[in-house]
Amino acid sequence: MSDGFGRALVAGLARRPRRIPCRYLYDEAGSLLFERITRLDGYYLARAERALLRQASGRIAAMVGPGLRVVEPGAGAMVKTRLLLAALDRPHAYVPIDVAGPMITAAGRALAAEMPELAVTPVVADFTRRLPVPTDSREPVLVFFPGSTIGNLAPPAAVRLLARLRAAAGAGGWVLVGVDPVRDPVRLKAAYDDPEGVTAAFMLNLLVRANRELGATFDPGAFRHRMRWNAEAGRVEHFLISRRRQSVGVAGRRFHFRPGEAIHAEDCHKYPPAAFHGLAARAGLAPATTWLDAQELFSLHLLRQV
Ligand code: TRP
Repeated sequence: MSDGFGRALVAGLARRPRRIPCRYLYDEAGSLLFERITRLDGYYLARAERALLRQASGRIAAMVGPGLRVVEPGAGAMVKTRLLLAALDRPHAYVPIDVAGPMITAAGRALAAEMPELAVTPVVADFTRRLPVPTDSREPVLVFFPGSTIGNLAPPAAVRLLARLRAAAGAGGWVLVGVDPVRDPVRLKAAYDDPEGVTAAFMLNLLVRANRELGATFDPGAFRHRMRWNAEAGRVEHFLISRRRQSVGVAGRRFHFRPGEAIHAEDCHKYPPAAFHGLAARAGLAPATTWLDAQELFSLHLLRQV
C-alpha cells in the first residue's frame, strides 16, 4: 500500500529545498527501526518519558477518573500505553491508531490478552489525516499522544492536530501529550546522531521503501544521514545527503542530485513548557497539570478544552 507515497515523494523531490513528509518513515521496517531508536543509550526521550509517566500516572489516574476510553494516535508497540493503562481506574476501551497495521494488530492482541476487561479495537489510519472520533462514546475519552511526536509537525500543523485531538476528546475529555523540552545541542546530538547508525538506517529506509514500493532506483549507500540543531527554530533537522553526483528514477521521473545536495526528511521541534502551552492555547487547550522531571529531560501535559 503506497498511501500517496509516490505522489508525495515526486512532489517533494521536485521542490527546492527538496523535502519528504515524515509520515512515510513508518512502514513496517521503519517502525521496527524506530523501536530500536527508543532503546539506544543516547535516546534519553524514551527513558525519561517512561520514568515521568511512572511518577505521574497515579496523579493522572486520580484526575481523569474511572472507566475511560483511551485513544492513542501513533500507538506503535504500545510500550508507554501499558504504563498508563495499568495506572488508570478500570479503563473500558483502548483505540490504538497507527499506519503500521501489522504492528498495532499484534500489539493490540497481546494487550487484550493481558487486560481481558479492556475492549481493544485497533484502527489502521494515518492520524495526520483522519482521527476516528468516538461519536458513540458513552465513556469519557482520554487522548494519549506521547513520544514528542507533536514535535515532528511544523507548528501550524501541530496546532491543527492538537485541535483535532481536542475534538476527539470532547468537552469532558482529556488530552495527555508527551513533549521533549530539551534544547541542549550536545544531548540532542547524542540522541539523534547515534554512533550505532540506527537513526541513519531509519532515515535511509525511506529510500529502500521507495525502491520496493515505487520501483525507484535509489542507491541507499549513495546517501548519508545528517542531523543539525536549528537553535533559532528550536528544532532538530534531519537530512539525507547525496554523497555524489547521481540521478535517480522515481515513478517515471528522473531526479538529479549534486554531491552534498540535501533532502530535508524530518524535524523534531523542542518545546519548553511555556512554549508548548502557547501552542496548546492556539488549539483551544489549557494545561490542567504539567509534569517535568528533575533533570528537565521530558514533560507530560494533561490538557482540557478551554
Ligand atoms: N518522535 C520522535 C522524536 O522526535 C521521532 C524520532 C526519533 C525521529 N528519532 C528520530 C525522527 C530520528 C527522525 C529521526 O524524537
